[in-house]
This record gives sequence, C-alpha cells and structure tokens, in this order.
Amino acid sequence: MDLHHPPKPSSLHHKLSFVFPSLFFRAEVAYALSSVLVVLSASLLLLSALTPLQPLSFLGHAALPCDYSDGEWVWDVEAYPEGSYAEDCPFLDPGFRCLRNGRNDTGYRNWRWQPRGCHLPRFNASEMLERSRNKRIVFAGDSIGRNQWESLLCMLSAGVSNKSSIFEAHGNPISKHKGFLSIRFDEYNLSVEYYRTPFLVVIGRPPPNSSHLVHKSIRLDTPQWRAKMWAGADVLVMNTGHWWNRGKTIDQGYYFQVGEDINMTMGVNEAFQKTMETLKQWAISNMQLGHSYLFFRSYSPSHYRNGTWDTGGVCDSGTRPQTNNTLLEPDPWYNQIMSSAIKSMEGRGRKVQLLNITYLTEFRMDGHPSSHREPGTPTDAPQDCSHWCLPGVPDTWNELLYAHLLAKGYNSRSI
Ligand SMILES: *[C@@H]1O[C@H](CO)[C@@H](O)[C@H](O)[C@H]1NC(C)=O
Ligand SMILES: *[C@@H]1O[C@H](CO)[C@@H](O)[C@H](O)[C@H]1NC(C)=O
Ligand SMILES: *[C@@H]1O[C@H](CO)[C@@H](O)[C@H](O)[C@H]1NC(C)=O
Ligand SMILES: *[C@@H]1O[C@H](CO)[C@@H](O)[C@H](O)[C@H]1NC(C)=O
Ligand SMILES: *[C@@H]1O[C@H](CO)[C@@H](O)[C@H](O)[C@H]1NC(C)=O
Ligand SMILES: *[C@@H]1O[C@H](CO)[C@@H](O)[C@H](O)[C@H]1NC(C)=O
Ligand SMILES: *[C@@H]1O[C@H](CO)[C@@H](O)[C@H](O)[C@H]1NC(C)=O
Ligand SMILES: *[C@@H]1O[C@H](CO)[C@@H](O)[C@H](O)[C@H]1NC(C)=O
Ligand SMILES: *[C@@H]1O[C@H](CO)[C@@H](O)[C@H](O)[C@H]1NC(C)=O
Repeated sequence: MDLHHPPKPSSLHHKLSFVFPSLFFRAEVAYALSSVLVVLSASLLLLSALTPLQPLSFLGHAALPCDYSDGEWVWDVEAYPEGSYAEDCPFLDPGFRCLRNGRNDTGYRNWRWQPRGCHLPRFNASEMLERSRNKRIVFAGDSIGRNQWESLLCMLSAGVSNKSSIFEAHGNPISKHKGFLSIRFDEYNLSVEYYRTPFLVVIGRPPPNSSHLVHKSIRLDTPQWRAKMWAGADVLVMNTGHWWNRGKTIDQGYYFQVGEDINMTMGVNEAFQKTMETLKQWAISNMQLGHSYLFFRSYSPSHYRNGTWDTGGVCDSGTRPQTNNTLLEPDPWYNQIMSSAIKSMEGRGRKVQLLNITYLTEFRMDGHPSSHREPGTPTDAPQDCSHWCLPGVPDTWNELLYAHLLAKGYNSRSI
C-alpha cells in the first residue's frame, strides 16, 4: 500500500505571490536589523558569560529567528560535507537508492537550500549526536515520514566511527513492512524511532450496526494505539497528508468515526481538521511540551505530470530543480490546518513548530525515484513521484529540523 499515491490536492497552477521589498526599504530594514543584532548579540554574549555551558555556536545559529521555509536552491558541489552519506548507508530502503536502481545523473544531490535573508546552519552530526544523548527522537507518520527518518539515520551515522554501535533495538531488519523500528546509537544512548501510521489516528473495525458500505473506520478522536510510545519522545516529528483524500478513504470504504458512530457524510477536510485537533489535545495532555519538541512536518508534494500516479503520471523529464516559482502548486490545504493547530498550541513555553518544507520541496521534481524504483519492480509499474531518492531532498528537511532545534535551544546546556 505504500505506493498508492493520491492525486495532487489541486491541479491548478497558481501564482505564489512574493512581494519583494524595494532595495531602499531593504537597506533600511537591514540597518534596523543590524542594530537589533548588535544589542541582541551583546545580551547573548552576556548571557553566555553568565551561563558558561551555553555553546558558542548558539550565537551564530540562533541570534535572529529565521523563516527557513522561503528561499532558493543553489548549486553546491559540496552540498552536504558534514552530514554526507552515500547509498551504501545500511538504513536505506532499496526503493530510495536511485543510482543503484539505474539513475545515471547525480546532480540532484548537489543542491543546497538557501533561505532568503538568513543562514541555514550546516548539519553537524557530532553536535546533533552530543545534544541528543540519552534521548529519543521519534517519527510518526506515513512512508514519506520513513523517508525522512532513514535520511536522519544516515546523516547521524556519518558522525559515528564504529558503525556496529548502531543497530535496530529488537534485531529487526529495516523494512517498509514493519510498523515500528527503533535504531539505537549505542554510544549516545540515543534511539531514533519510526512508527508507521498513515493517518496518525486509529484505523479499526467499524462499530456494529454500521452500513455495509463501511469497510474500516478511521477514528478521528483516538490517536493511533502506539501513541503512548510517542508520548515520552524528546523530539516528535509527526507527518501525514498523502492518505487524506477521498480516493484513499471513503472510496475504499474507509469512513470517519467520532465517538460511537460512523459519520457517513463527513468530508476529508473536516476529518483531517478533527484529527489535528485530537493530536493537539493528545500532545498537550501527554507530552511535556516545555521540555520536549513537537513538530508537524508539512505536506510533501508529489509531482505526477501528464497523468496521476495510477494513470501513467511521470516526473522524469528533468534533472534540475524548477527555477520558476510561478509554476509551483499553491500551499496545500493540509498545511493551513496543521499550522493553525501549531499556532493554537504556542505560548506557555511549549516547544512546537510547523516544519514547513512544502515550498522548498515543490521545486524538486528532479528528486523523486521516478522510474528508478526498487529492484524487482515491473518495468511497466507506475513511476514513484511521491517518495525521494536518498541522499536527497529529505536531508534538507532534516537540516531544517536541526536548525529549528538549535534555534529553540535543544539541549544547549548538556555540552
Ligand atoms: C510555508 O512556507 C511557504 C514559503 O515560505 C509559505 O508560502 C507558506 O505560506 C507556508 N505555509 C504555512 C502553512 O505556513
Ligand atoms: C541516462 O539515462 C537516460 C534514461 O534512463 C538515458 O536516456 C541516457 O542515455 C543515460 N545517459 C548516460 C550518460 O548513460
Ligand atoms: C561539529 O560539532 C563538533 C562538536 O560540537 C565540533 O567539535 C566541530 O568543530 C563541528 N564541526 C564543524 C565543521 O563545525
Ligand atoms: C538512556 O536513555 C533513556 C531515555 O531515552 C534513559 O531513561 C536512561 O536512563 C538512559 N540510560 C543511561 C545509562 O543514561
Ligand atoms: C563497536 O561497537 C560494538 C557494539 O556496541 C562493540 O561490541 C565493539 O566493541 C565496538 N568496537 C570498538 C572498536 O569500539
Ligand atoms: C442500528 O441502526 C439503525 C438504523 O441506522 C438504528 O435505527 C438502530 O437504532 C441501530 N441499533 C443500534 C443497536 O445501534
Ligand atoms: C456528520 O458530519 C457532518 C459534517 O460535520 C455533520 O453536519 C453531521 O451532523 C454529522 N452527522 C452525525 C450523525 O453526527
Ligand atoms: C508532459 O508532456 C509534454 C508533451 O508531450 C512534454 O513536453 C512534457 O515534458 C511532459 N512532462 C513530463 C513531466 O514528462
Ligand atoms: C515563469 O512562468 C510564467 C508562467 O508560465 C511565465 O509567464 C514567466 O515568464 C516565467 N518566468 C521566467 C523567469 O521564466
């Protein structure tokens, strides 16, 4: 079921409006910002003098809040000097090893995301590992979440010299068929876990007396049964989206349930909203959000062109990122709902963040496996324009994750 791809949320090509301030305005703002920066860095210096355990890198990384979501891709032959890894990283799904599967261009690995007007810190595996000592980093979501999890495993393992000290806690092989996997970085007492849960809430048998149309029930008011395992995570990255459409729910007999009864008329949009509300309430009551970090990762766009995933859609026409942002899809509706859920949780010292990777990912039609799917895939199988080659685009999502964690002071006192 992993490769059932939904249609795009909207096929409308849409002009994303970017208002570029005039140069004059920019200069003024730059001046104002630089004075703020001076004051800020002075106070931070003072702060770091008073709290000697604060690492100096905190200054460079987090002096000003930065909107990492907006920017451009720049060519960089050394795009990932620190977190670099290759396709032989043992944690990669065979379907993500695109070169091994016959892809013969490598340029897709040499683009670096450059946020507009600020600096995205390079991923430093040793530093991330140090900061993550005695912790649990948990990914919960669909197969695109697994894609990101595998990317982080490989980025982190680049910082460990003894590779045998990294292993699956229960001896399970890395497989997309497992619902739960936990990789231990033994030297750091760190586990990086993945829970497969395409809807994040429970999918179960329909209540007795339901209509014969109902094959399964999606229980919008009940987080997936393994959620109790997520609750104690130090960093929890949830994602969902690709399954929230009519074709993969109601049309398959998967109806929505709230309370005791199936609601036969509720639409996907409202169901998604209720799910986000459920997860929000769950996180507030079950996580220690003053201490742990909660991310909702925004929608990861797929790029089926000249057809949908099941009607011969393709994404293999180019080997470079899109450059013209007027050709991108609009921000999908899922993002607004996730963003409102996050916004309504903010404050009270809660460490919550929308990991907004949608826009940067929209440019990257070149980053999908397309026809270079896992060995054994029939040649006439649909192209994969949903998942991502690794190394590749999800590495950048993890760089953003890292940047947000640093900016929020992730364990800055333990090193
Ligand atoms: C995500 O980031 C893009 C680019 O900055 C922005 O256009 C969009 O509004 C953001 N979405 C949300 C829900 O914040
Ligand atoms: C790379 O692959 C494409 C299509 O798979 C093929 O058309 C092209 O000739 C190949 N290029 C090289 C240099 O092998
Ligand atoms: C990465 O982090 C480690 C530990 O904090 C530090 O010693 C090292 O200099 C950093 N590397 C780079 C390239 O910044
Ligand atoms: C290892 O980390 C866990 C939390 O993930 C913690 O409960 C445990 O005490 C740690 N073990 C050691 C030896 O520090
Ligand atoms: C590497 O890690 C394994 C598993 O933790 C351990 O048995 C082995 O002694 C380590 N090797 C070295 C050289 O530290
Ligand atoms: C079963 O469904 C019918 C029609 O929807 C309803 O009238 C009846 O009360 C239901 N019975 C139970 C036990 O819920
Ligand atoms: C089902 O959901 C729709 C949309 O929210 C709502 O209007 C309707 O009252 C619900 N039906 C039941 C039986 O709760
Ligand atoms: C879609 O088809 C058109 C016309 O045949 C072609 O120019 C374009 O490159 C195709 N797009 C993709 C992504 O293959
Ligand atoms: C970007 O695409 C739009 C719509 O097709 C077009 O009007 C515009 O000229 C393009 N801009 C550039 C710089 O190519």
